[in-house]
Amino acid sequence: MMAVLPSLALALLCLLRAGAEVPVQPGFDTEKFAGTWHIVAAVSNCSEFLKMKDMMKSSIITISFTPEGDLSMKVVWPLPDRCQKIERLLQRSGQAGHYMGTSAQEKRDLRVMETDYSCYAIVHEVKQSGRETSTGMQLLTREQDVSPQLLQKFKELIPTMGLTKDMLAVLPKTGECQ
Ligand SMILES: *[C@@H]1O[C@H](CO)[C@@H](O)[C@H](O)[C@H]1NC(C)=O
Repeated sequence: MMAVLPSLALALLCLLRAGAEVPVQPGFDTEKFAGTWHIVAAVSNCSEFLKMKDMMKSSIITISFTPEGDLSMKVVWPLPDRCQKIERLLQRSGQAGHYMGTSAQEKRDLRVMETDYSCYAIVHEVKQSGRETSTGMQLLTREQDVSPQLLQKFKELIPTMGLTKDMLAVLPKTGECQ
């Protein structure tokens, strides 16, 4: 126990410091952010993601907020043989635009880095699952199409989060799983 506590404190410091570098959209407005988005690009150093990313397609995410300000998301991922639905509730942290989720298998820390609400959003996520902590970002758009300028903006953020461009997946459009 004596040995665990100091290292735990250090781990917390790392988390806090890492978190401090990730910006959150100032004045984040949940009402304007709610609704349907397309996940058109994703970058992550999560080992499962890196194995699967070339097979992944654009998916739909529906976001709503509880009266307490918690974030509820429903994601539908098109897999080769079916539509995989994922539902998740993330609790509001001290700040709007910053959410946390804890389940038996994993911990997530999600921040909406920036959004204009009507066209795009860039979301940052740290996932801790077992011993692996991974970092990722997703580019969300209201329409399924993504402009080259927006994709370029997203690509430029990749190295600033300690990730590399080979971890990027630009997800092809699909008409499945609407
Ligand atoms: C992912 O990148 C973050 C930030 O550079 C790093 O802290 C983390 O250990 C990396 N995780 C994996 C699984 O490579």
